[in-house]
Amino acid sequence: MNEHFNNHDHTFAEFARRMNRDSRKAMIDYPPFVFWDSGIDQAKIQADIKARPDSIFNKLLGLYIHIPFCSERCSFCRYPFYIDTKRTDDFLEALYGEMDLYAGLLDHAPLRSVMIGGGTPSILDERQLKEFLENLHQKLNLKNALQISFEAHPASLNERKIRILRDLGVNRISLGIQSMDPDVLRTVNRTQEKDHIKNMHAAIRAAGIDNIQIDLITGLPGQSVESFVADLTEVLSWKPASITVYEFIPSSLTSFYRMGNRFSDADLKRIAEMAARAAELFSLAGYLHKPGNSTAMLKPGVYTLGVTDAFKFNSSFIGLGPFSHSHLTGSWRYANSGNLNEYIQSVKKGRLPVERGIRLDMTKELVSYLFNQLWKGAVSKRAVEMLYDAPLDSFTPILERLRYLESRGKLLIREHYIKSLMASQEEWLTYCQYLFCDDIRQRIFNFIKENE
Ligand SMILES: C[S@@+](CC[C@H](N)C(=O)[O-])C[C@H]1O[C@@H](n2cnc3c(N)ncnc32)[C@H](O)[C@@H]1O
Ligand code: SF4
Repeated sequence: MNEHFNNHDHTFAEFARRMNRDSRKAMIDYPPFVFWDSGIDQAKIQADIKARPDSIFNKLLGLYIHIPFCSERCSFCRYPFYIDTKRTDDFLEALYGEMDLYAGLLDHAPLRSVMIGGGTPSILDERQLKEFLENLHQKLNLKNALQISFEAHPASLNERKIRILRDLGVNRISLGIQSMDPDVLRTVNRTQEKDHIKNMHAAIRAAGIDNIQIDLITGLPGQSVESFVADLTEVLSWKPASITVYEFIPSSLTSFYRMGNRFSDADLKRIAEMAARAAELFSLAGYLHKPGNSTAMLKPGVYTLGVTDAFKFNSSFIGLGPFSHSHLTGSWRYANSGNLNEYIQSVKKGRLPVERGIRLDMTKELVSYLFNQLWKGAVSKRAVEMLYDAPLDSFTPILERLRYLESRGKLLIREHYIKSLMASQEEWLTYCQYLFCDDIRQRIFNFIKENE
């Protein structure tokens, strides 16, 4: 397989660069979503949930809940949501039904973390918010949950909602700010006021929730380096527990992309400059920040627990709500329907609202784990052995591919660890696709042929 690829490092790097520039179509899931089957057998998934092995994967069980409503469409957003908020109560009824279905299958299995995301969870009114959290506590076992995290858009947040969240166990709030520059906000179709945002941050802290995460984005249309620096400087002065500076990914799911906009090389240069300024400001403000990482923390341990568990330990998580994905380590990855009517009808009939899925064997699980670990820079062989009950060296086909990458100077394989020597995450993802995904390999061959 590899002869096609020898001596094409330059073309390969160009493929990675263009993928990155055009829409960052980098694959972050393995096996990629396009390979998942529709029409999978419900009974098999249910049986596997019930028979979950008592392994480390399942001791760290996480829950994700997608609240799929927004009041407006931010042009940069790549997440799935509906604008029709009149259906929120219908959705919540179905969500409680889905919780009941899992309550039966999980048999009181303790959840370690809950992440409530969207869309915009804070769009729920006070009555809905209270009922939603009460149902969650009644139906699923959150008694030992270490983290209940909630995503909020400042514009739909108020002090009463913050108190409800606090009283019902939410101990981390992720506040999506993105930008506070009125011109940028107008351009991206997002309505919020700087003073209100600042007040909401202070109110969350005054309510006793210290774990506050702030989201900012670089590379938004019309955003200058100065505008970003002003936002980050302001946010740093509040001293939130963590700040993530996302680089805008103009994926085909965004209305920015759908309206025909693309990044220019000048945009990428501007984003790189903002990242450099962010690193400088984080360091001056005393935040812990690893080079190349999008998140900076005031002190360790304030991360999103569910996401970290899934990355670090390839642990299982269950996704509720339309569009949500679930991962039962050692057996399934599956996705809920994104059609609200289908979702509601399915739950009413007592069926999990699953639309697509794929059953993974241990080798595929391991590839998926390596994807995530090497994306971050390195993987420990001891961790592989602990998680997969066998040394990495015993997975011969995987090891052959890794050795091939080492021979190309892309990885370093040592006795206890493997380290990525790739220039960027995009390069690693492109190599992964080349080595482990046949159809994507074909696209790369075609690209190489066209560019020879
Ligand atoms: C589910 S979204 C939004 C949460 C909430 N509705 C809000 O608007 O604040 C979570 C985060 O993803 C980030 N995000 C959304 N679209 C993105 C994109 N195209 N590229 C990079 N980051 C993006 C934003 O920073 C956002 O806060
Ligand atoms: S950024 Fe938040 S509010 Fe805006 S469209 Fe995306 S999920 Fe909705």
